[in-house]
Amino acid sequence: MTIEGTTEGIDLILRQCRLVGAPDLVDIAISDGRIYAISPRLEVLAAQELAIAGRLVSPPFVESHIHLDSALTAGQPRWNQSGTLFEGIDIWRDRKQSLTLEDVKTRAIATLKQQAQQGVLFVRTHADVSEPNLIALQALLEVRDAVKDWITVQVVAFPQDGIYGSDGNDALLETALKLGADAVGGIPHYEMTREDGVQSVHRIFELAHRYDTLIDIHCDEIDDDQSRFLEVVAASATRSGLGARVTASHTTALASYNNAYAMKLMGLLAKSGINFIANPLINITLQGRTDTYPKRRGVTRVKELWQQGLNVSLGHDCVQDPWYSLGTGNMLTVAAMAVHVCQMTGQAEIDACYDMVTMNGAKTLKVESDYGIAVGRPANLIVLDAETPYDAIRRTATVTQVISRGRLLVETQPSVSTWYGN
Ligand code: FE2
Repeated sequence: MTIEGTTEGIDLILRQCRLVGAPDLVDIAISDGRIYAISPRLEVLAAQELAIAGRLVSPPFVESHIHLDSALTAGQPRWNQSGTLFEGIDIWRDRKQSLTLEDVKTRAIATLKQQAQQGVLFVRTHADVSEPNLIALQALLEVRDAVKDWITVQVVAFPQDGIYGSDGNDALLETALKLGADAVGGIPHYEMTREDGVQSVHRIFELAHRYDTLIDIHCDEIDDDQSRFLEVVAASATRSGLGARVTASHTTALASYNNAYAMKLMGLLAKSGINFIANPLINITLQGRTDTYPKRRGVTRVKELWQQGLNVSLGHDCVQDPWYSLGTGNMLTVAAMAVHVCQMTGQAEIDACYDMVTMNGAKTLKVESDYGIAVGRPANLIVLDAETPYDAIRRTATVTQVISRGRLLVETQPSVSTWYGN
């Protein structure tokens, strides 16, 4: 294909790209921040040319669930010895007393850079709004703006200590929405009573209506098989018509429900059309802590939700914080953990886990119209040292190039081994 009159104006061309699921290699031309052309052979000059040589070119990874305000604080002021969610909340309550705007912004931007160099260009972060000065929220809103030229960040106003956990939390949550949070969150299973939990879900929907925001609720992140706020979220999404604007994160209790109830619930979930986010790295470590043996895996029913046709994405949740001291922000690590923990080892299931860290996440964040490798779309794409999504997950492949808004943002060399044996 020849593009007439375009030897000027093409900023970047990627030669011999292997697109996900496509049999033939293609060239991709980028102009003015957008994908200008995709064709097996583009006879055109560009200001910059990259030889991709048959490596996998994919839409960027989407981190649909992370807490950037607590990232990189592991061990401050103390280590989580029990490994439970609740000790993590206690430690964070102490650590957040010393938050400053600069502290949060520095750690958040360092984490975003770590993510971006591994191919993440869309991030939904939660910001704890249970702290009277809303430092975390204000810092993350500033970060959202500061990084917008190279990474898209959404901020969820997240009442970590519960909306009704103490006086003033409800007002803080509403203030956070007035300040510009993109989504309203909640934690019904952590409220003091079942009734408070139900009321918190209703309050979240009321606020989402009033401030026209998305909803992303930490829902039933507990091994208690009687923690049943997911049904309240699904029913509210159906009745309100908000449907796909609603996300239930974690939903680990769903893995502990009896099958009779879970089957009934699946029908309600399918009708609601809500999104799900599982965080397999953290929930395989946080959950099951009160079990002896057999010990539960504690990750929600990812395979069954996916088989129902529901939109499931995967998150890292934490990077070196009071709940999870490990983590690098690498989404292939998250996908690999889902493959293992959710027993999604079939070929289509492994591919589905790749979708869960790419396009499914874009759907959850409601950015899908600006996402994907197609002519006219913003030129956000990544190159992997792999041939297929399966290969990428199996080897935790290096993301060799990250193109953001049409520009080469970062390059990484795959590691090289030299064999000296016989
Ligand atoms: Fe979370």
